Amino acid sequence: MTEPLRIAIAGLGTVGTGVIRLIETNRDMIAARAGRPVEIVAVTARDRGRDRGVDLSPYAWVDDMQDMAQRDDVDVVLELIGGADGPALALARKALGAGNGFVTANKAMVAHHGLELAEVAAASSAPFAFEAAVAGGIPVVKGLREGTAANALTRIYGILNGTCNYVLSEMERTGADFHAMLSEAQEKGYAEADPTFDIEGTDAAHKLAILAAIGFGTRIDFSAVRTEGIGKVRASDIAQADTLGYVVRLVGIASLKDADGTCRLLQRVRPCLLPFRHPLAAVTGPTNAVVAEGDFSGRLLFQGAGAGDRPTASAVVADLIDIARGQSGAPFSVPVSALMDCEAGDPGERMGSDYIRFTVADRPGVLAEITAAMRDADVSIESLIQRGRSAEGGEVQVAMVTHEGPERCVSKALELLENSPSLTAPPLVMPILGD
Ligand SMILES: NC(=O)c1ccc[n+]([C@@H]2O[C@H](COP(=O)([O-])OP(=O)(O)OC[C@H]3O[C@@H](n4cnc5c(N)ncnc54)[C@H](OP(=O)(O)O)[C@@H]3O)[C@@H](O)[C@H]2O)c1
Repeated sequence: MTEPLRIAIAGLGTVGTGVIRLIETNRDMIAARAGRPVEIVAVTARDRGRDRGVDLSPYAWVDDMQDMAQRDDVDVVLELIGGADGPALALARKALGAGNGFVTANKAMVAHHGLELAEVAAASSAPFAFEAAVAGGIPVVKGLREGTAANALTRIYGILNGTCNYVLSEMERTGADFHAMLSEAQEKGYAEADPTFDIEGTDAAHKLAILAAIGFGTRIDFSAVRTEGIGKVRASDIAQADTLGYVVRLVGIASLKDADGTCRLLQRVRPCLLPFRHPLAAVTGPTNAVVAEGDFSGRLLFQGAGAGDRPTASAVVADLIDIARGQSGAPFSVPVSALMDCEAGDPGERMGSDYIRFTVADRPGVLAEITAAMRDADVSIESLIQRGRSAEGGEVQVAMVTHEGPERCVSKALELLENSPSLTAPPLVMPILGD
């Protein structure tokens, strides 16, 4: 087949211009691998006059982005705008509804509307692909959809947000606090001017929900992801973790349990302690990494750049090559009608150890109160460290590591202490991942 695959690009920012540069740079190689040329036909963004550092003159400029969806000279629409709803979603519905291929890097939209879009795509037999929506340049969507297709996966977890990983690993390296490292991440372009989505874990939660659906063949359920960001992690927690042999990372974890005819899917994003020898402990800076545990493959590690124009463009164009080859397959690894409907798993059932940090008033009897709550809730303490009086005065930090046990016991202990006047700030609980 030598007919070109004709594409239209909506969004000419970081990723959109990266895709143009990649297609121009590797044109012949892409054609050889795709079996036919991949040609840009039309482009659009908000501001036609902006200099984007790429030559747009060979391509038709489309004023109304929605017109791209039904052009006769377009086979695939690329959506590189962003936003869960709004124009990106309208374009997706329209392009797929018209039977055109649709490729996106938009994790928010796929996490919220991926099922609906997969249904539209199935109804019109249109390819729908989103490799770039998870972990930038890492081919983890393809890895889970195809590479691990023969496995029952039980757990998928990873470092899914480069901003948080940069902040935490720089706090570890420099000893500086969260706000200082977040400002540095913004200066270096690793964090948005408004970093809320990243810091609160929402971006990682979008990606985790997508990975869980692909890896487990379950209906995507973003609303069930329990999410906690990194804003409460202090430099002293990281120092404490280091003393104990751990690093702190924001980790998204999805685990599937299928018992008594009911499947339960637990999806969580939260700061975790990882032993120094864990493969994710070595992942520093804005890098992303995903671990998938399969019954036959064993543990697999995918690692690489989670963002940036070039890595993300690499993932977008990989989807285009698949479509050009006629190899797109079901977006969530099985037909959307066959995806399993799971209940949300109970976090209280998780068995493991936790790091718990209390900030307490510096007075006699406080430690006894905390340890009594632990005893009453059946939490066994492995080690307990009380740090000296804080510079501000009046407060001390008590950190402990628990022996392995059900998470519901730790929650119960914290409930018992909830109204204690001895606690001057909410405690921070971070699970300890085994190696
Ligand atoms: N940046 C990354 O490293 C990265 C990595 C993975 C995934 N992604 C995803 O890729 C997508 C694009 O990200 P980006 O970083 O490239 O964003 P960006 O640099 O902000 O670019 C967004 C583009 O969309 C255009 N746009 C916005 N609203 C529009 C509208 N209503 N109509 C037409 N065009 C509109 C903008 O036009 P103007 O330029 O004219 O303002 C701009 O060209 C997002 O979904 C993001 O989550 C990004």
